Parts: sequence; structure tokens; C-alpha cells
Amino acid sequence: MILNPIRRDYKLIIVKKFDDYKLPFEILEKKELGASGIVFEMILKTPLIARKAYAGNFILLRINETGERFPLTIADYDREKGTITIVFQVVGKSTKLLSHLEVGDKILDVVGPLGNDIHIKKYQYPVVIIGGGVGIAPCYPQAKELKEAGNKVISILGARNTGLLFWKDKMSSVSDELIICTDDGSEGMKGVVTVPLTEIIKREKISIVIAIGPLIMMKFVALTTKGSGDLPKVKTFVSLNTIMIDGTGMCGGCRFSTLDGGVQFACVDGPDVDGHIVDFDNLLKRANRFVDQEKESLECYDEECRALKKHKSEAS
Ligand code: FAD
Ligand code: FES
Ligand code: MG
Repeated sequence: MILNPIRRDYKLIIVKKFDDYKLPFEILEKKELGASGIVFEMILKTPLIARKAYAGNFILLRINETGERFPLTIADYDREKGTITIVFQVVGKSTKLLSHLEVGDKILDVVGPLGNDIHIKKYQYPVVIIGGGVGIAPCYPQAKELKEAGNKVISILGARNTGLLFWKDKMSSVSDELIICTDDGSEGMKGVVTVPLTEIIKREKISIVIAIGPLIMMKFVALTTKGSGDLPKVKTFVSLNTIMIDGTGMCGGCRFSTLDGGVQFACVDGPDVDGHIVDFDNLLKRANRFVDQEKESLECYDEECRALKKHKSEAS
């Protein structure tokens, strides 16, 4: 039989492409970060997403058929291996369910990369990158790409205590200066991230500040850099972690008000946006609008877990 070499090549390409699209998405690695027991790092096999991912992008996950869609930032990517890294903190049902998955388990849907890439270029003066809590993870690809573009990178990592800190070595490898702060003084400087930030912007000219973390931290970073008293104004980007559902600008879940009375959508206009235009007080009020349902959902899940554990121990 004579094989048609062109057709054979064609077939090989199709098989490779099909393999890239293969669902669901496998967890290749999992580890706990820090000593808090609530922050996890996972490496997922997602070849198509890894190929297109850049700093600032995120994914939307749905763990199983009855699961909700929720966003997580792409904290790292490996185009060769076709993998992305996610880092998440357990705060409710979906993140707890994710933390219960193990290497070899699969996630039903992963959509991405979504959101705008951050603007990577060589800036005239150093850049300051601030990560608070689990927000340290999304700082890594930004610091890495800005460093590769030839910038001097000053990183400030903040957490409530030493147990919630992680990726210090990773961040140090892409930073010219690394400052650690904890609220309780258990590691590094005692105090909040705006203390070293204030010293830095008084000390030298800074081109941009990037802040990723709790809304309240980003609010105070933006206030520090907006230009007041003896402090200069510094262009500041914040990464908005508003509630997201579709991630494509259609549901309106992630909308936020701007100080000039406008409305933007974090999923398509961000998530990294100019921190000086965000109406943080409005956003802080809206962030808690589903807490009752979230609490109920977590309680039901915990109850299911307890019942399953009891059933297993009775059966063994
Ligand atoms: P729930 O009990 O459902 O909610 C707890 C809190 O999480 C809520 O009060 C709300 O503030 C927030 N939240 C709930 N549902 C959503 C949702 N659909 N979209 C956004 N926030 C929600 N967290 C990480 O730990 N690591 C990350 O890398 C990360 N990246 C994010 C990137 C973006 C662009 C956004 C918008 C959020 C990101 N978050 C990240 C937050 C993460 O999506 C929420 O912690 C997660 O959805 C909580 O789900 P849950 O069911 O466990 O908790
Ligand atoms: Fe629906 Fe942004 S998540 S509009
Ligand atoms: Mg939830």
C-alpha cells in the first residue's frame, strides 16, 4: 500500500491539535504555599492557554458540572511544557473544592487567557511592584516581564503574618530590591506596604507603581501615589478583583464606577486599570453583596464533606 505523505502529515497535525484541545484539564502539580494551610499552588496542563498567556491575564474555571465559574490569575506559564501556574487562597466553597483536588485530578473547564496584558516596556525610572497576600502571585509574571524589558524592579511584598508569605525567592530572582512587610512584624518590616512605598517615592523618581492585593490595600496605594503634600504623583495600576462571571464584558458582574462618574468593566477594561480613576469606596461596598449566599454555600459543602468522611469511616 502506498501512503500519501501529504495526507499523513495532515493527520499528524490534526491529532496534535486535538490533543491540545483535550478536556478536562489535568492537575500536574500541587503544593501548599507558606505555613497558613490555606494558600495553594497548582500547575495545570493547558497548552493553548500557555501559548498565549502574558502578565495581567486570568482564567475562568469551572471545576465540575454543578460548579460556578470563578477567576484566577495566571501566575506563571511555560509555553514549552504547555502549562500554567495558579495560586489561590481558600476563602469559600469553590476555592475549598479546588484545594481538595489532587495531582492527576481534572478540572472541567478552563477558559483563557482573559483580560488585557499589562503594558510591558522599558520605563525611564524604576518600577515598584506591590503584592499583598495572595496578590503576591500575580505580581510575579509582571515583575518577570518588566525585568526582561530592562527595568529596575523594586518589589514590596506584604502579608498579615509570615505564614501567609510565599514566593520570596521567585520574586527576589526578578527584582533589584525586595522589601518584606508584615502587619504583626513576624517577618521583615512591621507595618503596611504604603510605609516603604512612601519612602521610595520620596527617595527617587519612579515611573510606575503596580499594586495587586486586597481592595483596601490597593485603595491606600492609589491614595499614596495620587500626588499630595510632599509626595509626587506616580502613575499607578491596580488589579481589580471584582466579581466575574462570563469574563467577556456581557454580564456586568465586574462593573466598577470611576471617580468621574463613568462605568467600566474589570474583565475587558482591566483587570489592571489606572488606580487613580477607581471609586474604591463604591467597590468596597459592592464587594460584599453576595456574602450570605457564599456563607450558605460553604456551610452546605462543609456539611457534605463531613457526611462523606463519616460514611467512609463507617464503611471501613
Ligand atoms: P466565595 O465564598 O464564593 O466568595 C468569597 C469572596 O470571593 C467573595 O466575597 C468575593 O469577594 C470573591 N468572589 C466570589 N466569587 C467571585 C467571582 N466569581 N469573581 C471574583 N471574585 C469572587 N483569588 C486567588 O486566590 N488567586 C488569584 O490568583 C485570583 N485571581 C483573581 C483574578 C481576578 C481577575 C479576579 C476578579 C479575582 C481573582 N481572585 C483570585 C479572587 C477569586 O476569584 C475568589 O477568591 C474566588 O472566586 C472565591 O470563590 P469561593 O467560591 O471560594 O468563595
Ligand atoms: Fe461579566 Fe465582566 S465578568 S462583564
Ligand atoms: Mg463562590
